[in-house]
Amino acid sequence: MFSVGRVIRILLIFLVVHIQLISGNDLRNNRVCKTSTNPFSTFFLSLQSVWRRIFSCKSKESAGYHYLKHPINSKSLSTSKEERDAHRLRGLLPAGQISLEVQIDNAMEQLRSKSNDLEKYIYLQTIQDGSEDLYFGVLGRNLKECMPLVYTPTVGQACIQWHQIYRHTPRGIYLSIDDIGHVEEALSNWPQQDVKVIVVTDGERILGLGDLGVNGMGIPVGKLALYTACGGIDPKVCLPVHIDVGTNNIPLRSHPAYMGLRSDRVRGEKYYDLLQEFIRSVQKRFGRTTLIQFEDFGNTNAFDILNRFRDQATCFNDDIQGTAAVALAGLISSEKLTNIPLSRHTILFYGAGEAGTGIADLIAKAISKELGSPVSEARKKIWMMDSKGLITSKRENLAHHKLAYAHESASECTTLEDCVEQIKPSVLIGVSAVPGSFTKSVVEKMSAMNEKPVIFALSNPTSKAECTSEDAYTWTSGRCIFASGSPMPSVTLTLPSGESRTLEPGQGNNAYIFPGLGLGIMAAEATAVDDEALLVAANALARQVGDEQLKKGNVYPELDSLKSVSAKIAEEVAEHFFSVGLSTSKKPGDLTSYIKSLMYEP
Ligand code: NAI
Repeated sequence: MFSVGRVIRILLIFLVVHIQLISGNDLRNNRVCKTSTNPFSTFFLSLQSVWRRIFSCKSKESAGYHYLKHPINSKSLSTSKEERDAHRLRGLLPAGQISLEVQIDNAMEQLRSKSNDLEKYIYLQTIQDGSEDLYFGVLGRNLKECMPLVYTPTVGQACIQWHQIYRHTPRGIYLSIDDIGHVEEALSNWPQQDVKVIVVTDGERILGLGDLGVNGMGIPVGKLALYTACGGIDPKVCLPVHIDVGTNNIPLRSHPAYMGLRSDRVRGEKYYDLLQEFIRSVQKRFGRTTLIQFEDFGNTNAFDILNRFRDQATCFNDDIQGTAAVALAGLISSEKLTNIPLSRHTILFYGAGEAGTGIADLIAKAISKELGSPVSEARKKIWMMDSKGLITSKRENLAHHKLAYAHESASECTTLEDCVEQIKPSVLIGVSAVPGSFTKSVVEKMSAMNEKPVIFALSNPTSKAECTSEDAYTWTSGRCIFASGSPMPSVTLTLPSGESRTLEPGQGNNAYIFPGLGLGIMAAEATAVDDEALLVAANALARQVGDEQLKKGNVYPELDSLKSVSAKIAEEVAEHFFSVGLSTSKKPGDLTSYIKSLMYEP
């Protein structure tokens, strides 16, 4: 009759089907529930409902409640009748089924009634804690309005007050130095098993606000919101992580509500042991090609971390590399307004940290490609200032990342005005987090030396910007090409000719790069992120700046088009990974459609 082998096989099939049907993630992972009008999905939902009734374990009374409380599952009021039955939601929702569109309109009305941006941030977090579909519906359909609320500048204020506005729904993984030896266990507590993108910080340099310890978690949360809203990466494959090694911000850690370790930052080998265990555990739990984006680490560690792990993991540092690509893209597209190719510019950086040297390195690579000359030659066009003044070869004890820009052919100078006088730059880039440092006389000097000076004040949040759009346009009589890190308003000027002109500053923010880069990495299942990928991303972004934008003086694409911009960047970046052998997946016949098929749409 039945052999033992056959009985075991039947039992195994029964077990697998049971686990599939009983699991809370099954439908969501297969996205069957997304199309409740599809007859197959309706049948599957009914089957699941019957199965659950027969086999559910003792928590069955509350299974629906827990299902509805999970923001990844919950479609809230738009849950269909079939889904309500299948997930035991009877009685847990009002009888009416309200479409996602109506819920979005309603949420926007509520959002606009809030009295300040932090209130709006909190309201949006509350929506996200209820239903990711609704949250990303709101963000996706109102990106220009919502981006400054979930990201810079509002996220800066949210991080400053994170211990006071903390939401109690678990959002991300918090690892502390005391978790050494238990990192994998902590990661396994995350409910999603298929994580593809992680943004991790240790909170040491949050925007230009300094060490905010565990409060820095607002940044991975905000960045991942943009991965989904701007890059279409499914929220269920995104994971924010905070690594708590203490904080040197004594007033913050002395606050009774501060939630992190109340000790000085751990440095040295123990710190790297935790990071190494984190990388290993991520790869073991989620896979070798899960992308790890390092974010807002202090520059004492940021460069080391990148150098240590870039060959071991699919990772990049957004402050060093993402910012570099976005700034380079702005310079490439500014050529259409200045008629000056990259290689003919003289570039002065105000700030020589992660962002400054990251941008400088990528620009040098791009110039060396343009001219076919060595990178060392290209670097001679780039000058940097830090808190001690101009970086020259006469300076002692320079940090490693600054050495390549310590030129011989300059005398020391400490003020920006003097350095502008000496170097005569055509491009001035601010990444110092020193607000107001691009003074009237500095900008006027740039204006006197250049027909169309390029001035990028990239420091975040807005309160840390080197100058405002209004200052830059007014002091150059509307001749400068201006971009800022955080959004700034358009400015209408009456030009010397009597003509009135409205200029729109570009937002030189890495949000233009990382979502598309991440999507491309996911599509190719890349094993590493090489510098060439960032050059490819920068060029892909620059190519998408339309004439309409340039006419307004904006060297970046329209913010509302970010999703299609990201898809294009992803395609070119993935193509690059396939061509250089950094991909572990087979190249699809139609890469454009494949990338589109990966993109989540609520
Ligand atoms: P960092 O701490 O690594 O570097 C800051 C640099 O500014 C250091 O070289 C420091 O010496 C210099 N500096 C400080 N005071 C100065 C002064 N008085 N004069 C001249 N230089 C001075 O910080 P990081 O990561 O480079 O970030 C700097 C700023 O850039 C932050 O505000 C950050 O938010 C912003 N940023 C903007 C991005 C964007 O997408 N627009 C992305 C990454 C960073």
